[in-house]
Amino acid sequence: MRRVIIDCDPGIDDSLALMLALKSNEIDVCGITIVAGNSPSDMGFRNAKKVLSFLGRLDVPVYVGASKPRVREYINALDTHGRDGLGESFLEDVPNCEIPTKTAVEFMIEELSRKDTSIIALGPLTNLADLIDVNTKAFLSAVDIVSMGGTFKSHGNCSPVAEYNYWEDPDSAKIVFNTLFENGRKLKMVGLDVTRKIVLTPTILEYICRLDIKTGEFIRKITKFYFDFHWEWEHIVGCVINDPLAVAYFIDDELGKGFEAFTDIEVQGISIGQSVVDSMNFYKKPANSYILTDVDVKKFWIMFMSRVMNIDKEIIEKDFEMILK
Ligand code: BDR
Ligand code: CA
Repeated sequence: MRRVIIDCDPGIDDSLALMLALKSNEIDVCGITIVAGNSPSDMGFRNAKKVLSFLGRLDVPVYVGASKPRVREYINALDTHGRDGLGESFLEDVPNCEIPTKTAVEFMIEELSRKDTSIIALGPLTNLADLIDVNTKAFLSAVDIVSMGGTFKSHGNCSPVAEYNYWEDPDSAKIVFNTLFENGRKLKMVGLDVTRKIVLTPTILEYICRLDIKTGEFIRKITKFYFDFHWEWEHIVGCVINDPLAVAYFIDDELGKGFEAFTDIEVQGISIGQSVVDSMNFYKKPANSYILTDVDVKKFWIMFMSRVMNIDKEIIEKDFEMILK
């Protein structure tokens, strides 16, 4: 079992990612840390607890980190994720859960110092940059760092060139990429090039409901708003679920392919938040990232569905042609 901290901003797709992670026995989620992103951090905390409660996993600790980006003004994504950050499902708060006094950064330092723990970052990289400020050594002790964020060739979702997580806090993203560069380390970037291919369609949702009504209804509740948003803004029937792919790729790196490159983040101007991936080696700098460009969509869905529903892979494989129609 690989130990991992999930740093996230739940968020509809963050919640789906937590569901996949907590149903996967190859990984041990030792804690969840919350960053301001899709939702303000106190709302993200309550949402993480709601997901844990649904999964019967309230034993997993949740800590709260940054409440705003490093330099920029904070811009949440409640227009995409609904007023409650969970698709306006308005699920009840889990009773008696106070925000712990231990901060996300303090928790990360403790866990990473064991030197057997990785990080999956599903939100802006503010908590990771804060960790670098306080204890760079602990940050560099992470076995693996996977980040859902950025984009290489695909267009952005906040500007023509920028993806939300890096656009919301470009200064922190830059610190993370630069620190990795200075220390000869790499981050695995699961960006829009690949996550855009993961579309939860009405058929897939209906299929999940047929096989596991409790899980299906939970997913239906939290994604309905997201479906409407995608129809209005992207003319897609369904919704792109970005974050679970980062978890899936962490579990099985055969799920995606890409290339190594030096990457930096633009922190100002019209390209603010852009992940500038030097795929042609203009800068002649050693790689600090592995950029995912291809994903096995079928393999992803079989992994996701079989795990969140606790059903044999073979059953879903048999139905797959029908589900993807
Ligand atoms: C990313 O931004 C958020 O809206 C999602 O949760 C995901 O992490 C996609 O750009
Ligand atoms: Ca997210």
